[in-house]
Amino acid sequence: TTAQIGIYGLGTMGSALALNLAEQGIDVAVTNREPERIAQFMEDSGDLSAHLRPHETLADFVAGLQVPRVVLFMIPSGQPMDEMIEWIVPLLDRGDTIIDAGNADFHDTRRRAAALAEQELHFVGMGMSGGEQGARHGPSMMVGGSDHSWRQLSPILRRIAARFNDQPCVAHLGRDGAGHFVKTVHNGIEYADMQMISEVYGLMRNGLGRPPHEIGDVFDGWNDGPLASYLIEITARILHSIDPETGHPMLDVIKDSAGQKGTGRWTVIEALRLGQSASTIEAAVGARSWSSEKDTRQIAEETLGGARLGLDLSVQSLADALMAARILAHAQGFRVLTAASREHDWQLDLARIAEIWRAGCIIRSALLDDVAAAFHAGPRAGELILAPAVAERLALCVPALREVVSAAVHSGHAVPALSAALAWYDTMRQGYGTANVIQAQRDVFGRHGFERLGQGGEFHGPWWD
Ligand code: 6PG
Repeated sequence: TTAQIGIYGLGTMGSALALNLAEQGIDVAVTNREPERIAQFMEDSGDLSAHLRPHETLADFVAGLQVPRVVLFMIPSGQPMDEMIEWIVPLLDRGDTIIDAGNADFHDTRRRAAALAEQELHFVGMGMSGGEQGARHGPSMMVGGSDHSWRQLSPILRRIAARFNDQPCVAHLGRDGAGHFVKTVHNGIEYADMQMISEVYGLMRNGLGRPPHEIGDVFDGWNDGPLASYLIEITARILHSIDPETGHPMLDVIKDSAGQKGTGRWTVIEALRLGQSASTIEAAVGARSWSSEKDTRQIAEETLGGARLGLDLSVQSLADALMAARILAHAQGFRVLTAASREHDWQLDLARIAEIWRAGCIIRSALLDDVAAAFHAGPRAGELILAPAVAERLALCVPALREVVSAAVHSGHAVPALSAALAWYDTMRQGYGTANVIQAQRDVFGRHGFERLGQGGEFHGPWWD
């Protein structure tokens, strides 16, 4: 029998996805660049192998697929994807769909989609979130591509997706790069949330002097309330873990230098290109970069003195501060989506995006249900922070964010993402800000001109007389 879908790439994610499909009774053709891996994968797949069709060559793999074909690539993004396209295209026919399910730069996705469209082939950029467990048991999937591809894919993807209120967390979000772009912003929000959680951990650990397991208990408690989220849940688990080698808390043996593969940075770059600034995400990307300069930081601590004073903050204030900052980071992420949607004419459905992020993905949280509701109702000016329920929540939580950021700043604890969230909030709620000074300065040194309040046109000041 021919397979409904083919998966190329049996690494961690590709294998998990193939098994998920097989478990749903979908026949899957599988292959891999290094053929040795294929036999191993089949051996490990147990009863599910009944739905798996292994192939050693690309030609056999393609020949084993139902027409029009669906071929999903789960391989490293960038150059390898371009190479694979070049190899497989001669074997495909009009109406076939190639899916890139990795974290690709959406500019590449747009370029590939345009190139393949010339040969009447369809290219889908699909963001897939949830890590290995998600891929295996139900990921959240953000699809960008043609209506034709979506008709081919949706019956398959709806079966393997994570579910929230029995609705599958997968959607066709727009043309070409839309899916990969939305996934990129998902990761940007992921970076911000991870950084904010680590900042709050730092305040409890170094400012309140709490040991990891106690902080783990606090996070467990938070996970039963409005802050409930996958990232809080796994952080609690991390905080309770002990290193089997040394008997120390796991966190205390892990080097404080964070890696990053690029999606967070792409979000920031795109935000700036679109005339936005997702400052919480930017702070998170920057903090990861600074974290990797460990040697420099160690020298600086000797030279500049790394003293951090004790803090007097309640756990409730920290919880409320994190809630406020999490809302603000989401608001910034959705603004980037709005700007990109306008730029590329994707007509992104923000409510739908929030809905498919409610389960399966890394940023899934109780908050996203409220975000979805807010976008369904259509907030004023399209701004999440102006949705009545969100504004009310911010009014309750922002005082705590203010208290936490002030205390941290006063006592020398770095809180780049929390403070960026607050600075953005305070900027946005001032109808009359301070950019008049900037405009005047620009006019003085460059005769750039300015608008007068309430008057269009260009004016100059009396500076040069
Ligand atoms: C997800 C994750 C996943 C992955 C990224 C992030 O949504 O499942 O975002 O895509 O963990 O690779 O990686 P970095 O932190 O290395 O940038």
